[in-house]
Amino acid sequence: MDSQSSYWVDRARLEWQVELGATDAIGDAPLNRYDLEQNKPKPSAKPKATTAALPLAEPAEVDTVAIAREAALAASDLPSLATAMQAFEHCELRLGARSFVFSDGNSQSPIMIIGEAPGRDEDRIGKPFVGRAGQLLDRMLAAIGRDRAHDDPQQSVYITNVLPWRPPSNRTPDASEIAMMLPFLERHIALVDPTVIVLMGNTPCQALLGRTGITRMRGNWTEVLGKPVMPMFHPAYLLRNPIAKREAWADLLSLQAKIRL
Ligand code: URA
Repeated sequence: MDSQSSYWVDRARLEWQVELGATDAIGDAPLNRYDLEQNKPKPSAKPKATTAALPLAEPAEVDTVAIAREAALAASDLPSLATAMQAFEHCELRLGARSFVFSDGNSQSPIMIIGEAPGRDEDRIGKPFVGRAGQLLDRMLAAIGRDRAHDDPQQSVYITNVLPWRPPSNRTPDASEIAMMLPFLERHIALVDPTVIVLMGNTPCQALLGRTGITRMRGNWTEVLGKPVMPMFHPAYLLRNPIAKREAWADLLSLQAKIRL
């Protein structure tokens, strides 16, 4: 292989690693962990008894949802909610994420938008919806006269996610991760107290409505925690399926009309 083609092969391999979720190089040379496993000394067949065998205590089951609920309810404002979430150590996603991504926009806005979880760009920058999907979301909001950076709540939106940490390789959050972070999301909604909520895609629908099926659910107003809620297609879906932008536009007009009522 000439040096030119080797460059492109190396580059494609690196891009593939990044696609899989690698964010940092942690060693100069590659490490084959299977070799390491094989080279480990084999444990002797029978461990020598040094003391009389004691019955092992079963590890106590931790009710992560109850712990989250207690921490969330103790938060009296958004900064203390963010602090409580950062201190919550039961969601392992925090170990693999670079940033804690809480929210963006104007918390006085009547519109609260809830997405799934940070992606690679959000994890890098520390704000929700800043990658390609986020840029499309900004253009969609601009089309109904909204800008997350606007000081006037009536011209702004408030944006957050179900999860504040990026799942590895952007995988869909699992049910236990959603369940343990839900009390924080519910408290977040209560503290912001928006007039309406928009759920972007299936994950926030699963979290707050207990069901998925965005193609059927989108555009239909329902209620959560006493607030009008509308599921919409996630902007990442719209990037992959531009034809669905027609429905998204109808949903944006419906959102605008609801706010004006
Ligand atoms: N997708 C989401 O659901 N949330 C983000 O913050 C970014 C992408």
